[in-house]
Amino acid sequence: MNNGSAILELRGVHKSFTEPTGPLRVLEGLSLEVRCGEIVLLQGPSGSGKTTLLQIAGVLLRADAGEVRLARTELNQASEAARTEARRRHLGFVFQHFHLVEALSVRDNVALGLRLKRQLVEARRVTETLQLLGIAAKADKLPGTLSGGEKQRTALARALAPRPDVLLADEPTSQLDAHAADALASLIQEAARQTRVAVVIATHDARLHRIADRLLTLQDGRLYE
Ligand SMILES: Nc1ncnc2c1ncn2[C@@H]1O[C@H](COP(=O)(O)OP(=O)(O)OP(=O)(O)O)[C@@H](O)[C@H]1O
Ligand SMILES: [Mg+2]
Repeated sequence: MNNGSAILELRGVHKSFTEPTGPLRVLEGLSLEVRCGEIVLLQGPSGSGKTTLLQIAGVLLRADAGEVRLARTELNQASEAARTEARRRHLGFVFQHFHLVEALSVRDNVALGLRLKRQLVEARRVTETLQLLGIAAKADKLPGTLSGGEKQRTALARALAPRPDVLLADEPTSQLDAHAADALASLIQEAARQTRVAVVIATHDARLHRIADRLLTLQDGRLYE
């Protein structure tokens, strides 16, 4: 069996939200496997459930039914403590709106990524990550003085510095121009190659297609290759 090497596994995931008109079924028996170093792109119409799927894979939201495994440990039924610990150990997140701390420099935002994971803040690790993402020259700047592309690279550095096993990104390029989006795509690809991080990106952005190992479409609650 080759699912032994999957770092992230979703099996038969169902998720509904309660609406005044009745249950809104978003995910209906969805399955997904992602291996180390693999880049998976998730596309699908607005409202198809891409963000919901990332939240469930990211152990931020519980599925109504099904299994969510990170490094072979089932987490959908696990305690809050176990879920928090797994999130801390295995996951990195990048969001559409960067979520940088405006009062901290680029360097300190990246260090915060480590501190939030209770890891020793190694100056060297921070510097290496800044270099990998091409923002070492901006290390002492505040986010407010950065371009959109530089902010997004800082957010990516913060997510990658703790060396997560899985990186989940929700529309990471939607605020970026063509050049910055292309640069970010190359950096994600480089990170996957160098650190073997598994990457799942929800995106409408065709500029990211070139880095995808797999392109999946979410429709009617399921994924199609
Ligand atoms: N917390 C919630 N409570 C109720 N309904 C929700 C909640 N979160 C999402 N939904 C609904 O679930 C559906 C899927 O939403 P989701 O945000 O996952 O879609 P998406 O594919 O990410 O869309 P987009 O491309 O616009 O970001 C939508 O109809 C949305 O309104
Ligand atoms: Mg979304």
